Amino acid sequence: MTTPIGIHDLAFATGSRVLDLSVIAVRLGTEIEKYTIGIGQERMSIPAADEDIVTMGAAAAKQIIDRHGAEGIRTVLFATETGIDQSKAAGVYVHQLLELPTTCRVVELKQACYSATAALQFATALVVCDPRQRVLVIASDVARYELGSSGEPTQGAGAVAMLVAADPDLVVIEPGSGVFTSDIMDFWRPNGRVTALVDGKYSIRAYLQAVENAWNDYSAQGGFPISEFNRFCYHQPFTKMASKAHRHLIKTAGGDLDPAVLDAQIAPTLKYNRVIGNTYTASIYLALLSLLDSDEELDETKIGFLSYGSGSVAEFFAGTVQPGYRKHLRSEENRSVLAARVPIDASEYLTWHERRDPTELGDFALPNETPGPFRLAGFTDLKRDYAVTQ
Ligand code: HMG
Repeated sequence: MTTPIGIHDLAFATGSRVLDLSVIAVRLGTEIEKYTIGIGQERMSIPAADEDIVTMGAAAAKQIIDRHGAEGIRTVLFATETGIDQSKAAGVYVHQLLELPTTCRVVELKQACYSATAALQFATALVVCDPRQRVLVIASDVARYELGSSGEPTQGAGAVAMLVAADPDLVVIEPGSGVFTSDIMDFWRPNGRVTALVDGKYSIRAYLQAVENAWNDYSAQGGFPISEFNRFCYHQPFTKMASKAHRHLIKTAGGDLDPAVLDAQIAPTLKYNRVIGNTYTASIYLALLSLLDSDEELDETKIGFLSYGSGSVAEFFAGTVQPGYRKHLRSEENRSVLAARVPIDASEYLTWHERRDPTELGDFALPNETPGPFRLAGFTDLKRDYAVTQ
């Protein structure tokens, strides 16, 4: 019998500020129902001035290291669409902030919102080779679109960290997956831009097409039949996209299209994303956390995961929730983190939106704002200076 491998621990962090989408609706003269019902979003997390993908990723990973220590971690995989350097991997800063052993490899992965799933699969493969090893996977992103663009209400910020190990406490990742790649331009962010460019309607069609193809490949590879899955986690640029994708998947796979059944299969996965917004690479694993933190009893539940990253790459794979998983969650703390975010108004939101990293050599200090354990203190000659706050 092969050793089961999967997600041993899962933690998240997000921007410490929060914007109610009514602020954007008022500015754009849009009915709020377009957001709350039409795309299924209520609020979005916004990073404070001294928060970024590194501080969020490190804050998520710290919870894992505090609980399990660093023993066996010889690899850190950092997935992001919002990289902060063309050369240096963001995970190297996290490695230093968490004081991980030097006997470690650290690398960054990119493919829009998909790369955290590549990281998870690479991590499971490393643990297959040596089940004593544990791999720290971090997914962290800040989603920013142009003001007034169709994507503006779908911004957000957040990170998840996963400890991938043998005999995991939370979710076994089942062998086998369905994959799909297609060179398209539905969403992209050329070098030098902090805001993404997107062909919104086309991106929805492309996502649905990728769902279909990834599932078809999963079936061709001999995966579980659709009837064996009870819950589904999707990449969620906005929660209504998960509903669209789910209906499309079940239609493709020949499952039960009763709207009440479809809703029950994904509703608990939507709660966190609805109030955090798009977190790109982290989004599908935030959906998993939302599901695990829900009131449902999920022992032995088979979950279907559909990961999509524009451009585009998609993957369908299966996970099985482990008996007793509840003992290993941080549900109350997670809800407290969301509730503790500081609401910002229209002018603070616009200030955040205009924020750019410095482009000139010299010293640049950032205000001390974050309540989190790490902060981006500033820049010295375009080098990022991170600090431990607690
Ligand atoms: P839009 O074009 O402004 O909105 O932006 P719309 O007119 O299509 O309306 C959206 C929905 O709201 C529609 O429902 C309307 O009927 C409804 P649907 O037909 O879709 O079911 N609606 C209302 N409902 C209730 N009351 C009202 C009302 N008014 C309208 N008063 C769009 C929508 C998604 C295009 C936009 O938000 C966008 O461009 N978002 C960014 C792109 C995106 O998220 N794409 C998703 C697929 S690609 C992906 O997931 C990858 C990504 O995360 C990037 C990565 O991989 O790195 C983006």
